[in-house]
Amino acid sequence: MHTRESPGTFRVKSFGCQMNVYDGERMAELLTEKGIAPAPEGEEADLVVLNTCHIREKAAEKVYSDIGRLWKADGSKPLIAVAGCVAQAEGEEIMARAPAVGVVVGPQAYHRLPELIDRAVRGDRATDTEMPANAKFAALPARRRAGPSAFLTVQEGCDKFCTYCVVPYTRGAEISRPFRDLRAEAERLVEAGAREITLLGQNVNAWRGEDGKGRALGLDGLIRDLAKLPDLHRIRYTTSHPNDVTEGLVAAHGEVDKLMPYLHLPVQSGSNRVLKAMNRSHTAESYLRTLDRFRAARPDIAISGDFIVGFPGESEADFQATLQLVDTVGYAHAFSFKYSARPGTPAAVMDGQVGREVMEERLQRLQGALNRDQLAFNQASVGRRCAVLVERHGKKPGQWLGKSPWLQSVFFEGESAIGELAEVTLSTAGPNSLAAELCVPAAA
Ligand code: 5AD
Ligand code: SF4
Repeated sequence: MHTRESPGTFRVKSFGCQMNVYDGERMAELLTEKGIAPAPEGEEADLVVLNTCHIREKAAEKVYSDIGRLWKADGSKPLIAVAGCVAQAEGEEIMARAPAVGVVVGPQAYHRLPELIDRAVRGDRATDTEMPANAKFAALPARRRAGPSAFLTVQEGCDKFCTYCVVPYTRGAEISRPFRDLRAEAERLVEAGAREITLLGQNVNAWRGEDGKGRALGLDGLIRDLAKLPDLHRIRYTTSHPNDVTEGLVAAHGEVDKLMPYLHLPVQSGSNRVLKAMNRSHTAESYLRTLDRFRAARPDIAISGDFIVGFPGESEADFQATLQLVDTVGYAHAFSFKYSARPGTPAAVMDGQVGREVMEERLQRLQGALNRDQLAFNQASVGRRCAVLVERHGKKPGQWLGKSPWLQSVFFEGESAIGELAEVTLSTAGPNSLAAELCVPAAA
């Protein structure tokens, strides 16, 4: 690679999960700190960071086609950095196959992005896929900007080794960020305008820490502490694992007003045989009992989940068990995916790989059931009075868009502002959003 001018502008393109969105924001902050400006909307950037996802199929192919497109775009040939989980899993291959790429940086090493870019500018293509626990967070600049709803990564990595999943390989072992650092970052986010914080982790409820007095804390302790920040109105967390649910976390849902009535608890399948082959270490029954505990603590809690159809060996009867579980739970929202064999995972070489057509057909049936339940949940919300955290302007003039406590998108008209908690009554339900009427405070 030849030497080139230092980039003046950048763009970060994030794919995949919310953790990647968080990482993308932190990379943007790092680059801004280094004096590189975000490229204006619609203009080519001198530096493009592809913050990639490896969770399902074709992720790597997508990266190569994005790279090809970027270098063909207008002949200006931006400096390309590949970050995220594909970089971690296939960094060396990317360097070998794509001469257009100047930097490859893994999810635990992106704090070193500025120096890797300097090296690439000098013509020295640079890769860093080291996994030092917590080094990244200590090296990142303080948060300066935040929208009304902000993400805060509290835990990363996974020790569970579900047999289909690449995360333990791309994100490494479970680590918890120290309580003190999280408290400081949350304070900065609130000062910068955040009114809601979503605590992120691949297994967020496995977070463990110690408070200032050396007492052990779990996620519920962290939530209870953050709830003391006066200008922080809402707390959420995602994604949880059924086996790391503690009594304290369940109780917090009944006791901490700022903790929103929403739980994303992936189950993946309703068949115990499949769950065993997935190494999930819970059963359909134990999962349902866990949900009952949450519902006892917080009866209006909205339940969300993740599903995989077509895991190796999944029979029609196994799939029926999944549909049965969906009927029992009544999900407010859920994600569902066709199984994708990930290289290096145990499931990729299991017997009984399910054909494409069967998977496609099962996914359609499952999504039909989940969409039905999502609409039913939204319809059952009509008439509820609740607060909406206003996140942005709607499409129509005078319209506002925000989220209900149950994470539904809600739009309404009237006097309000971004970052405000507006009191509304939910009035009309669609599959993906609700309309609401602003409640005018009664005259004194
Ligand atoms: N194939 C399909 N879906 C997957 N997920 C994780 N790995 C795979 C895979 N190999 C889904 C799971 C997980 C979500 C983040 O992605 O449902 O909860
Ligand atoms: Fe994709 Fe999973 Fe990595 Fe997130 S953690 S970027 S979903 S592979």
